[in-house]
Amino acid sequence: MSKKIILSGIQATGKLTLGNYLGAIDNWVKMQEEYECYYMIANLHSLTVRNDPETLKNNTLKIIAIYVAAGLDPERNNIFIQSQVKEHAELGWILNCYTYMGELSRMTQFKDKSAKHADNINAGLFTYPVLMAADILLYQANLVPVGADQMQHLEIARDIAERFNKIYGETFVIPEGYIAKTSSRIMGLQDPTSKMSKSATNLNDVIFLEDEPDIILRKFKKAVTDSENIVKFEPENKPGVSNLMQIYSSCTSKTMEEIEKEFENSGYGNFKAKVAEAVIEKLEPIQKKYKEILNNPEYLEKIYKKGAENARKLASKTLDTVKEKIGIII
Ligand code: TRP
Repeated sequence: MSKKIILSGIQATGKLTLGNYLGAIDNWVKMQEEYECYYMIANLHSLTVRNDPETLKNNTLKIIAIYVAAGLDPERNNIFIQSQVKEHAELGWILNCYTYMGELSRMTQFKDKSAKHADNINAGLFTYPVLMAADILLYQANLVPVGADQMQHLEIARDIAERFNKIYGETFVIPEGYIAKTSSRIMGLQDPTSKMSKSATNLNDVIFLEDEPDIILRKFKKAVTDSENIVKFEPENKPGVSNLMQIYSSCTSKTMEEIEKEFENSGYGNFKAKVAEAVIEKLEPIQKKYKEILNNPEYLEKIYKKGAENARKLASKTLDTVKEKIGIII
């Protein structure tokens, strides 16, 4: 039996964070044995907000370097840049015509982003989920590992696929969203009630994968906790401490009970330093490899060119089928 297909992506906006790593990439690495994987850098999605062109280019390359440095084997995974597989934009347009304004208006992320960028509520921001549906459906992906915030977009991708299949007969595989059991939702260090975000305005809220050890230590030392001085996993009542425990657990594979025991008689100061140390240790080999890869642009280029070439094979097949069905001459 052929392997199930996975597709996922990360936007090329902003620098990747510890949250992206522990919540997403680290899990992808675990799945590369079992699935046929497509991982893209969603640089077309990035255009929905204004970017400095040089920065967008650099971020795109940096994400590829991080994917590989974190352990995604470019021989076994198809790592590619969304814009280099033109089928995404093309299917995105077609699917726009099978998506309703009403369903897009309900998207939480659209509402949030419109509020945040009130001066630039562009049409791309509105149809963002349709392009994401195209990303997924082109590869007939069975599983789409996403964060909880992307589940609504996944639902709409399923709805579009089902709608299309109903009109034209079986065309798209209906994808399942996948939130890995082992994956952790990493929250901000300053505001542990919301997700650690690469677009955070307070830089102390976020650990970037590129942060040097002294910066990581400093940020953890400043992390918001509470006044109890007890290391205990209670996300509702102790979001700050619980988030730090989650990070520690992800980096050391220790359970919450083990961590509670380890810091039974220790204050927050020592606990925070230990969490920082674990993160620094976990990131060190990745950062080293990351720098090596970034310093080797030919290698990087080889990876994404080959990735796009492979991706195109499957994507163009799906797009041709779609065109046949709807009456677009190929
Ligand atoms: N919208 C996703 C995010 O912001 C990124 C993304 C784009 C994606 N296309 C995708 C994720 C397809 C999964 C599948 O996180």
